[in-house]
Order: sequence, then C-alpha cells, then structure tokens
Amino acid sequence: MQNLHQNEIPHSSFLIHNYCVPLSISDVRRQFPFLEATPQPIYLDSAAMAQVPDAVLHAVQQWEHSLRSNVHRGMHDRAEASTIAYEAARSTVQKFLNAKHPDTIIFTKSCTEAINLVARSWGDAHLQQGDAVVLSILEHHSNIVPWLQLKERQGIDVLWVDIDDEGNLRYDQLEQHLHTGRVKLVAITALSNVLGCAPDTARIIDLAHQSGALVLLDAAQAIAHMPMDVQSIDCDFLAFSGHKLYAPTGVGVLYARKSILESMPPFLGGGMMIRNVTTEGFSPAELPATFEAGTPPIAQAIGLAAAMEWLNQYSWEAMQTHERNLLTQATTSLRQISGLQFLPQNSSFSIHHSPFGCLSFTLEGVHPHDLTEILGRQGIALRAGHHCCMPLHKRLGIPASTRLSVGIYNTKEELELCAKAIDTARQRLRG
Ligand SMILES: Cc1ncc(COP(=O)(O)O)c(C=O)c1O
Repeated sequence: MQNLHQNEIPHSSFLIHNYCVPLSISDVRRQFPFLEATPQPIYLDSAAMAQVPDAVLHAVQQWEHSLRSNVHRGMHDRAEASTIAYEAARSTVQKFLNAKHPDTIIFTKSCTEAINLVARSWGDAHLQQGDAVVLSILEHHSNIVPWLQLKERQGIDVLWVDIDDEGNLRYDQLEQHLHTGRVKLVAITALSNVLGCAPDTARIIDLAHQSGALVLLDAAQAIAHMPMDVQSIDCDFLAFSGHKLYAPTGVGVLYARKSILESMPPFLGGGMMIRNVTTEGFSPAELPATFEAGTPPIAQAIGLAAAMEWLNQYSWEAMQTHERNLLTQATTSLRQISGLQFLPQNSSFSIHHSPFGCLSFTLEGVHPHDLTEILGRQGIALRAGHHCCMPLHKRLGIPASTRLSVGIYNTKEELELCAKAIDTARQRLRG
C-alpha cells in the first residue's frame, strides 16, 4: 500500500463535491465521449441505459491499470489497495443513499439481481401460504417475476394495485389489500419506466408500515432523477442498477435495513460469503459479505461510486429543473403531431401528469418498432416495445408503445429535432 502513489487510488472515498458546480449542459456534454461521435447521436434512451462520463471511465481505467486485484483475499499491496477502494465505493453508496451503515449496502450485478435476492432470501425465509405481496400494475418484469416465482415456491398471493386514467396509483386498492392483514411486503416502483410517474412513496410506506408490511422500492429509474434518502423515505429495501446512473454495467445495489438483512439467509453460495466450511456444512460470514458470494463487480462498484461523486457535484434541484424543461419541450412539440397520444391515454397529460425522466406515446397507424427503426437510422435513439412492462401495456389496452427518455446531457434542441423526425416518419409511414 505504501508503494502506491495517492493518485493511483481510483476514487476518493467521500462525496467531496457537494452541490457546488452550476449545471452547464454544454460542459456536461463535453464529459461524455459517447456524445462526441460524428454525426452526433441524439440519445433519448437513458431509461434503458445512461451514458458514462469521463470521470467514471477514468476511475475504472485507473483501477484496471494500477490496482487490478481481487478484494478481501490478497495480502500484497495492490490487493489491499483494491479492497480499500472497493469498500470506499460502498461508503460512497452509503452516503449517496444516506444509509446508516455501510453493511446495509450489498453490491449485486443489477437491480434485477437485488430484487431476486430479496425474494429468494427474505421471501423464502419469512413468507408462507396465506401471506401476500402487493405489486402495482406499473411494475417492470424485474419486480414482478421474482414474486410470481415466490408464489410458485411458497404459495403466497400476489395482489395488484391498479392505476386510474391519469396514471395515479389506486391508493384505495392498496388500503383494501393492507386491510386483509395478510400483506407482508409492498414491492413498488419509485418511478415508472413507461409513464414517468412517481407514486407517492411516503404515503405507501406510511400505509404499509401501519399495517405491519415492509416496503421494497424499485429505484431503477428513480435513482437517476430524484434523491433517494433511505432514512427519510423510511423504506425497508431499495434496489437499483448502476448503468442507469451514468455508471458501468454489471453492478447493482440492494439496500436493506440492517435488522432485516440480519434475519435473511445467504442467497448465493460460494467464496467469501462464509466464516467456515467443512465437508458437512458452512457458517455464513458477517454482513455485507454474506450476500456477496464470489468475486464481486469490483471495477464496476468503483465506477458506480465515481458516478455518484460526479453527479453529486450538481444539485438535484438544477438537474430536475433541466430534465423537467426537457420533457415540457418534448410534450409541447409532440402534442402538435396528428394521431400522437401520450400514455396513459385519455389523461389530460400536461395538467395532471408531469413526468420524470421519460414519457411514452402511441402514434395512430404506426407501429412503435417501425417508428424507432426509422429514427434510429437517423441517429435518434428511442425505445419501442412493452419496455418489460407487459401487464401495464395490457392494462392500457395496447401491445407496445414508444418511449422517449432523457438524461442530464440532453438539450431542448435534441427534443425539437426528435419531434420533427417523428412527424416526418409518420407522414412517410402513413403515406
Ligand atoms: C423500473 C425498472 N425496474 C427494474 C429494472 C431492471 O433493471 P436491470 O435490468 O438493470 O436489472 C428496470 C430496467 O429498465 C426498470 O426500468
């Protein structure tokens, strides 16, 4: 460790820049190599995967160049430095989420894996026939299938909460489910990856806790668009992926209250998650190692911490204002296009629905795949399909939609160009 120059440590362990850099979008854009390509892409698919700034690429590259060694194993100096950097990444995530203990931050490979961890470990250990898990119709398949699998294994019930015509959650239905006294968990998205609406998590958590149920927040989308302070939100579990937060792929996070994690058996078995192994059995390691079997995503976790530090330079208020302006621009321009309907249909969209991060729409007579393919050929990236939300699309009575999503680097000009390209494509496709 002494032989390593300070600069070789891939990132600092604390959130040093605290809301001090004014948000200049041209400065931000210059930090994203992906956006520097010629011709310049118009990237409106950050809800699927955000682009990565230099600061993150640099942190990952520094680790690969100078420290690349496995963590919590080696005694040589680089292995020790790598372990320090990895654990510092955990501290950064802890601070970003304002969690009380670093031990409550579990690195996984993705949000999907984090939710599966909860379903397999906590679900199998604590739920049985007669118990219920509540989901909303807004959920991504990652927050549906693990609970349906739990239903198959343990015979629990999965109860659904619908939305109204404006996309608001039916809190009355949630209350009805909770009144049965059978609900042990409400697993819900903090931000819809289709409608861009954010359920009232404070209200949900309050209602759930009053009836003794825990709450899991799927923060896959929310993490990049709003502060997720787990102490003030008071959630029991929170899951997200790095790649939607300007960080590398292959890393996700599960946060859970310490007392809950302590009541959960290991999910995956393997190296590093044990205290002792014999030919007869094993005893698990302490938190957080219990849930990090095998070699963890080291470079990716360090990249995630770098992304959080990078993002933390800017205020949430500035980022949210910018993204809100972008989506207002998008709705204003798209509204002019004949036959274009925002989701949920029939909503008085701009009055009641002020989306975060993304919005989705259908275009009469035009299949979303045809539209996005034509735009894709012009370097405009949108997403078409069910966006891993088949139950929501069924509820809306459509097989597919087109989604436009924004990140910190997008501009109003890009949204205007995108709307024009959609209108031109519509004219071409409808003949
Ligand atoms: C709301 C939501 N939940 C969960 C996921 C799953 O994330 P991942 O595929 O990174 O595990 C996504 C991905 O799009 C999402 O939008």
